[in-house]
Amino acid sequence: MKRRIWLTGASSGIGLALAEELLNAGHQLALTARNLEPLEALDQRFPRQVLLAPGDITDPDQVKGIGERIAQVWGAVDTAILNAGTCEYIDATRFDAQLVERVVRTNLIATSYCIQEALTLLRLGQRPHLVGVASSVAYLPLTRSEAYGASKAGLRYLFRSLRIDLAREGIDVTVVSPGFVDTPLTRKNDFPMPMSWPAPKAARFIAQRLKKNRRPMEVAFPWPLILSLKLLALLPERLQLALGKRMVRDARQSGSSA
Ligand SMILES: NC(=O)c1ccc[n+]([C@@H]2O[C@H](COP(=O)([O-])OP(=O)(O)OC[C@H]3O[C@@H](n4cnc5c(N)ncnc54)[C@H](OP(=O)(O)O)[C@@H]3O)[C@@H](O)[C@H]2O)c1
Repeated sequence: MKRRIWLTGASSGIGLALAEELLNAGHQLALTARNLEPLEALDQRFPRQVLLAPGDITDPDQVKGIGERIAQVWGAVDTAILNAGTCEYIDATRFDAQLVERVVRTNLIATSYCIQEALTLLRLGQRPHLVGVASSVAYLPLTRSEAYGASKAGLRYLFRSLRIDLAREGIDVTVVSPGFVDTPLTRKNDFPMPMSWPAPKAARFIAQRLKKNRRPMEVAFPWPLILSLKLLALLPERLQLALGKRMVRDARQSGSSA
């Protein structure tokens, strides 16, 4: 069944690949990001399927405008995939609270603005489905990930809690927890990224899982990385700390700035 899907973060990386995947499958997509060019390129390729809904999601007025635009044109949304996000790493020797604020504002607060608009539209949609892109980092504290991890752990909690409260309205909630995916976001990383997937592979995996009749609560990949993180999270805290300290030392020895 063709769906009306609002996708944020559609200009790059996982979001751009997911937009292509879903458009190729024939769905209608409302595309949000600040950079208009990649969205317009998709609009040209899929003219009858794309609704341009650009904007900065950290600005609540812009998000409200996006919601109103989608309501005007479509009247409702069947699926909202809130994927837009950012990542910056902390240097604990010069802890920067503004960095934490920037990352949390985009990943958690701005996504909440989108949730507010999405829910109004989803309540009018068919078999409504709310999807949030968190991260596998939320399973385990990792070096330098204080801000990013906190934002994604918060986002994960927000969606899981919402799942309970939206169940009686028949709105399903899925959390997507990717491992490493090769995108402009991770190309800046100066450390090894085990089991990294190309963005089109990640997009295909996410799209296949989301279309299942019985909606998954979690879409996490690749499974060997997810399993390792989940098992490590079960270890006693002191052992986790010892392993974490080792990761910092190994990263320094390999010349990274960790
Ligand atoms: N890549 C990975 O390994 C990985 C792993 C786990 C989770 N994730 C999560 O997956 C999602 C996508 O990441 P990615 O790797 O594809 O990163 P990316 O290539 O940098 O894409 C990020 C997307 O978010 C949009 N965005 C960022 N800030 C925005 C804002 N203020 N307003 C509107 N749009 C904004 C960007 O669009 P504009 O810049 O055009 O606004 C872009 O389309 C993120 O939530 C990320 O945390 C990624």
